[in-house]
Amino acid sequence: MLIRSLVASACTLGVFGAAAYKFAPSKLQSAFFSSVVRKSSLVEQSDMKIELLPALTDNYMYLLIDEDTKEAAIVDPVEPNKVVEAVKKHGVKLKTVLTTHHHWDHAGGNEKLVKLIPGLTVYGGDDRVGALTKKVTHYNTFKVGSLNVKCLFTPCHTSGHICYYVTKENSSEPPAVFTGDTLFVAGCGKFFEGTADEMYKALIDVLGRLPPETRVYCGHEYTINNLKFARHVEPDNEAIRKKLAWAKETYDNGKPTIPSTMGDEFTYNPFMRVREKSVQEHAGKSDPIETMRSIRKEKDGFKVPKD
Ligand SMILES: *[C@@H]1O[C@H](CO)[C@@H](O)[C@H](O)[C@H]1NC(C)=O
Ligand SMILES: [Zn+2]
Repeated sequence: MLIRSLVASACTLGVFGAAAYKFAPSKLQSAFFSSVVRKSSLVEQSDMKIELLPALTDNYMYLLIDEDTKEAAIVDPVEPNKVVEAVKKHGVKLKTVLTTHHHWDHAGGNEKLVKLIPGLTVYGGDDRVGALTKKVTHYNTFKVGSLNVKCLFTPCHTSGHICYYVTKENSSEPPAVFTGDTLFVAGCGKFFEGTADEMYKALIDVLGRLPPETRVYCGHEYTINNLKFARHVEPDNEAIRKKLAWAKETYDNGKPTIPSTMGDEFTYNPFMRVREKSVQEHAGKSDPIETMRSIRKEKDGFKVPKD
């Protein structure tokens, strides 16, 4: 609060610079300037390109480009102006909006984007999604250029949550899945409108059956905090410790800790590991779904340690 007001008043006076530094106690300065600037980044495959566009505090929007046709889709365009900029930069034709769920930090930009770029098809699995033109459900398919998109219905975080699985026929490159707030790197979304049983189905039966090399693009940059909880659940899990060290370094360099892969999630994500003895023992349960319920409840009240 203090930092924010100091900076705000300095800006108002037009003296944000030497004068502001001079009067700011050094502790405040370092607190302000140590905040990481999140950069966008590009994952390039021969069949598709995916640009990760940081949005709001810790959200991601994803620009998905079909290399064959230069047609594009945008996942959860909460900041429409940034989307328009990225579309111009890549010189692609944006035709499609993929909405994972109706929460404002995912769907809240839809109405504005369809005004900025007329003619978009807006996909989503919930009538609460703004500017929705095509309501979809489990295993509905459609194309983005030459790419195949398959909708995966994963209710729990919200009752209409959809993940989008993207493949290219005959490609040797890995598929991509956009998981919104269902699956995060090393974590999962809160059960706002669903049950442990539904999250188990979503994570293990639906997403967990995708090819292990599938790249996972999730809705938020929560990786470090998720891994600290994972370490609390499984203190002896070496994959968690390694991933956490990597995630801290990556994040400090302003880089996304995304994508991961489905195969890797099974090694460090406690919610993907509810069938493992170590996770069940931590929860004091012998049933995977009871374990899911228990560790989600524990994480909801988990105080994240500094290191
Ligand atoms: C994929 O491979 C199969 C078998 O070789 C072929 O029949 C099909 O036309 C290919 N599809 C595309 C889109 O190239
Ligand atoms: Zn959400």
